[in-house]
Amino acid sequence: MTLYEGVGRNDSCPCGSGLKFKKCCMHKNLAPSERRLSDEYLRRYQIYLKTPQDIAAMRVAGKLVVDTLFKARDMIKPGITTEDINKVVHEYTLQNGAIPAPLNYNGFPKSVCTSVNDVICHGIPSSEQILKDGDIINVDVTSILNGYYADANMTFPVGDCSPEALRLMEVARNSLKKACAVLKPGNRIGDIGAVIQDYAEGEGCSVVREYVGHGIGKNFHESPNVPHYGKKGTGIKLVPGMVFTVEPMLNLGLPHSRVLDDDWTAVTVDGSLSAQYEQTFVITESGYESLTPYEL
Ligand code: MF3
Ligand code: CO
Ligand code: CO
Repeated sequence: MTLYEGVGRNDSCPCGSGLKFKKCCMHKNLAPSERRLSDEYLRRYQIYLKTPQDIAAMRVAGKLVVDTLFKARDMIKPGITTEDINKVVHEYTLQNGAIPAPLNYNGFPKSVCTSVNDVICHGIPSSEQILKDGDIINVDVTSILNGYYADANMTFPVGDCSPEALRLMEVARNSLKKACAVLKPGNRIGDIGAVIQDYAEGEGCSVVREYVGHGIGKNFHESPNVPHYGKKGTGIKLVPGMVFTVEPMLNLGLPHSRVLDDDWTAVTVDGSLSAQYEQTFVITESGYESLTPYEL
């Protein structure tokens, strides 16, 4: 290991912490400049930059999340219930040594969110809710594996969907793909929202404001917030080691939401369809890597 050439274990750390190297960057396995940035992002923005070790662990959690999403996808057809999906997600997660993060999270009663048609997000699975031909359903999976969270979702058609429903899903999916293009060091958080909003509104869809992407790591939701609307050139600068979700929710009608009496289910105020795609990303030196990769 010659990462920190010329620095002895007992030398004072070149990051400027005042600690001995062995008590600081050496142990953290960070180069001193990375340690300085890490400290700055924590102090200024409460953002935990992730180490290569953190990222490796989140990649493993992310793979499980995508495998779980695909298991859900493969069972979706008219006649099943959203509780059937919950059961599969719950059991598959436990079988793989992980914990379903939604279960008991701020009182959420199930292991996955299932959001049908005009439900924007946080739909609660139920054995009473039977999927029917033409529905669209978002399945949002978050797992905790070895202490690390990964979070991803997709919207699926149930049987044959209307052209409008198919178009909404395509625009939502494309909006996430377009956002990926601006995920690189030096760009800003606001660039992500700007790309999504410009594209989605140009396609006649609206962008939900009340729910945003989020930092993620050893916690479900960390700093920073990642709005899916906004202005280019605004917000915090993206730097390597930042990990956050991007998860645009697009509606066919008005952007506004309300929460049902169950205190969770967020629906469109006008009953219009809503679709969403989510992945967990890490900013790298050259751009980004999806930790929950599926094709966009
Ligand atoms: N997975 C959602 C997100 O993308 C959060 C769900 S919180 C829950 O942030 F409690 F509803 F599960
Ligand atoms: Co999320
Ligand atoms: Co999610």
